[in-house]
Amino acid sequence: MTDARPIAIFDSGIGGLTVLAAVRRRLPAERFLYLGDTARLPYGTKSAETVVRYAARAASFLAGHGIKLLVVACNTVSASALPALEEAMDVPVVGVVTPGARAAAAVTRGRVGVIGTESTVASGAYGRALRAIRPEVETVARACPLFVPLAEEGWWDHPITREVAALYLEPFAGGRVDTLILGCTHYPLLRPAIAAALGDGVRLVDSAEAVAGEVAALLAEAGLDAPGNGGVRLMVTDAAARIARIAGLILPGAPVPLELVDLPD
Ligand code: DGL
Repeated sequence: MTDARPIAIFDSGIGGLTVLAAVRRRLPAERFLYLGDTARLPYGTKSAETVVRYAARAASFLAGHGIKLLVVACNTVSASALPALEEAMDVPVVGVVTPGARAAAAVTRGRVGVIGTESTVASGAYGRALRAIRPEVETVARACPLFVPLAEEGWWDHPITREVAALYLEPFAGGRVDTLILGCTHYPLLRPAIAAALGDGVRLVDSAEAVAGEVAALLAEAGLDAPGNGGVRLMVTDAAARIARIAGLILPGAPVPLELVDLPD
């Protein structure tokens, strides 16, 4: 059995293109519909109530496009709004927190660091997900708000980014954790700077890669794989030139045009 309906990938902005890139590498035959709510970005500094409201609006817009699966690429939304979205949607919803926590639980020797937006860290979602799998695992979490603008500036391995990473990641360095979850869409872009700040011996867990594995397994199990003519449509709620530039940095190769859309109430 195959299913040609697209997979929707939703994020607060275009950082979720790191998740699209990972899922697409894994499932090149699928059609993808990406929605970045760039007009309301950032979500990571907003209250959980606001994040739930924004996410519900985006999900109902995507449901209107005949999708077969919703991937919530945004860690902030996955941490605060996943139950609400699961209830509202009649297709499977995959967030990034559980796959990321599973990937970390599979490799850690017992001490896991979590980095994310202020909202993701305040939610405690990664710690809960990890303890549900391995109750003995200890977690330490820290918000790294400057990483998002640094990633969007294209300063992925810039000396300033290395300095900021050294300051933010100080609580994790020196063997205090053995695994670090990159709990934000933008952080995989800063991997070299993050790895340099931590030194050898700390495994970096990228939720984007973990979610790609989860989506592939779910589609195969449900017999929902695509028949084989993949493609990507990128929709954003604000299409400033800056956003197109960052999208080009994250998704190099043939440029995909950004479609401007409005999310009805
Ligand atoms: N997409 C968000 C996340 O993964 C980061 C950007 C934002 O704050 O909206 O948490």
